[in-house]
Amino acid sequence: MSKKPIEPFRIKVTEPISLPSEEERLAKIEEAGYNIFRVKAEDIFIDLLTDSGTGAMSQHQWAGMMLGDESYACGRNWYHFEATIKNIFQKRFVLPCHQGRVAENILFSTILKPGDFVPNNTHFDTTRANTMHKGGVAVDLPCPELDDETSDFPFKGNIDTEALSALIKKVGPERVPVVVMTVTNNSVGGLPVSMANIKEVRQICDQHNIRFFFDAARFGENAYFIKKHESGFEDRTVKSIAQEMCAYADGVMMSAKKDGLANMGGFLAVNDEDLAGQLKELLILIEGFPTYGGLNGRDLEAISIGLQEVLNEDYLAYRTGQIEYFGMLLQQAGCPIVSPTGGHAVFIDAGKLLPQIEPAHFPGQSMTVEFYRRGGVRVVEIGSLMFGGEDPNTGEILSPKKELVRLAVPRRMYTNTQLEYVAEIAGEIVKDREKLRGYKITQEPQFLRHFTCTMKEMVGNPAKVPSD
Ligand code: F0G
Repeated sequence: MSKKPIEPFRIKVTEPISLPSEEERLAKIEEAGYNIFRVKAEDIFIDLLTDSGTGAMSQHQWAGMMLGDESYACGRNWYHFEATIKNIFQKRFVLPCHQGRVAENILFSTILKPGDFVPNNTHFDTTRANTMHKGGVAVDLPCPELDDETSDFPFKGNIDTEALSALIKKVGPERVPVVVMTVTNNSVGGLPVSMANIKEVRQICDQHNIRFFFDAARFGENAYFIKKHESGFEDRTVKSIAQEMCAYADGVMMSAKKDGLANMGGFLAVNDEDLAGQLKELLILIEGFPTYGGLNGRDLEAISIGLQEVLNEDYLAYRTGQIEYFGMLLQQAGCPIVSPTGGHAVFIDAGKLLPQIEPAHFPGQSMTVEFYRRGGVRVVEIGSLMFGGEDPNTGEILSPKKELVRLAVPRRMYTNTQLEYVAEIAGEIVKDREKLRGYKITQEPQFLRHFTCTMKEMVGNPAKVPSD
């Protein structure tokens, strides 16, 4: 049984939030075409849509913002940013950009040819979309332990190294320009990868002369799980574990909106000088001069401080402890969850909870709408809406293995009481689960449809919210 985690900080600034009435909630979600991304943030009570860019900054970060140097070239914050990243991520060349998907776009525009394969433990949606946008084939190779619900293996975020070797053999190493490891593995539950798995991927990449990159959005949380669960690391500092992880990779792309503890930012960091030169050309074209890359000087400073703060072990114990506690509350409320819990979110298995709704009618979406209707809570579907549909390159109909709902917890922002409220709403949904119905898409774009599509509830759906 998890203990209630205690926040290793006190709150200095507050931001008011309020719960819209039930009538307002029903109207707002309908107006938004039942797409929670389209609901105004001010109409949300507890926002668990994402842990990306939503966290609270520390007093040191806010103080650092005042030291922002907004010179166009070679401002002082850039040198702090560059030195911090070189030190933690162990790379020679650093390229700032304004968020993670730009790092993906710049990397894949530079190294991918149409028809190339990109293996990943599991692609995040933007990583997959950027791969496909360049004509690449995004291949997910999660480890076999992931499907074993009885296993308490702590590193279910691992890549399946046998499947990786088999894929390289099948398509030929010349068609695999990079192997990507997502740390932690967001889409399967924010689950970590082990150092042993990272080392094995390094060896496979060396055998075939293939680049190895991290998608390092949550590298600090991953390093903490290695310290907690992988033998030989218990007495090491999380920072030294993070440095070792990164030293095995040729490059890193990172969204600093997660473990950068900042509201905006990202970067690429690589060892290969020629590659760095090519990436820099595109960076200048689309983001800006290479010492700011689409960011303000003050943002560079906030990230430099955030990347160091995230490796604080009291913080990481609280962070992962809060997620574990939240997972326990949701389980007690009757929700089947992805277990063990990962570093940034709890994932509810909506496919299991709502067997009456077929994947094609988005059980996770149904639950997402219900969280808002009942409690003003915003969560996100990670299932057939996000990852299904037609592959624009191959025409293949994609279907994810699970229909999940993600409750991502912003860093240092919500108290345990607020999460207890969300678990109560989940309990109400569980009680009324038989009333929930599926959804149909009424309008969708070609890429990343879940962000902007509109939907309607299937006919005959009562799913009425009981009055307050
Ligand atoms: N890679 C991973 C593993 C991510 O989780 C994200 C973003 C990105 C790349 C893209 O970064 O948003 O800065 O462009 N994930 C957010 C989420 C949006 O909600 O999980 P970005």
